[in-house]
Amino acid sequence: MASCFVTRELPGTALDRLRAAHEVEVWPGELPPSREELVEHARDAEGLLCLLTDTIDADVIAACAQLRAISNYAVGSDNIDAEAAARRGIEVAVTPDVLTDTTADLAFALMLAAARRLPEGERAVRAGEWRTWEPSGWLGQDVHGATLCVVGRGRIGSAVARRAEAFGMRVVAVGRGDSLVDALAGADFVSIHCPLTDETRGLIGQAELRAMKPTAVLVNTARGPIVQTEALRRALTDGEIAAAALDVTDPEPLPADHPLLAAPNALVVPHIGSATHRTRERMADLAVENLLAALG
Ligand code: DGY
Repeated sequence: MASCFVTRELPGTALDRLRAAHEVEVWPGELPPSREELVEHARDAEGLLCLLTDTIDADVIAACAQLRAISNYAVGSDNIDAEAAARRGIEVAVTPDVLTDTTADLAFALMLAAARRLPEGERAVRAGEWRTWEPSGWLGQDVHGATLCVVGRGRIGSAVARRAEAFGMRVVAVGRGDSLVDALAGADFVSIHCPLTDETRGLIGQAELRAMKPTAVLVNTARGPIVQTEALRRALTDGEIAAAALDVTDPEPLPADHPLLAAPNALVVPHIGSATHRTRERMADLAVENLLAALG
């Protein structure tokens, strides 16, 4: 029996299976444990099941001398120092595949919502500002027939591309070695699906936003720091692009008074790419399976 620390209660019954095999402590809070709390509770753990909100850096890994396995409840692993883990021979696992289509669905929902200005329209109806049907009111962009630039050639990007093709869009996928700026310049919509790495941090900045069409919509369901927040705020405010629809931001969460939220053409939702009942349960199943397999 190994000792395991789980940094949050998970949906479904997966944690029962972990409890049946190992000694398990689950962090009871609704908010993540602080760094100190994390180290205090994981110090003697051999298995750690953590969330993308937990920073598992080299110091945390060094403080947890018994650690043999880290299972992240996410497909991204940018919250974990993989090199520090590898140096100690600690296995790191993530939850690919089970969330691919769910996240692609949200990227598409965001794209449609921003293109057709759903949040602005809904706010206007609630505020009693919608008085009549107007020939030139609430005009947005057509999604069908438009060009979508998918940044990242992985599983989720490919799933978004499949949806786009069914909508009659032209898809241009860019990966390492492709000219990002050229693809951005020709796109009506841009959807980001690359992992956050040293190479992709800040990938979309002032030059990239300026390369985009003034009618273009930027969608980010990957990681906030891939887009430079201040450059995006300026691009939205100055009309360099038409809108941004963001499931992820930097910082995350955005404080309510953050200047980006003052832009009416910014649609921001709370990192819900994988947030369906079924997918979050499948992620829990996989995260637990991964930890059980690694602990042996
Ligand atoms: C992930 O898995 O990396 C998502 O951001 C959350 O599901």
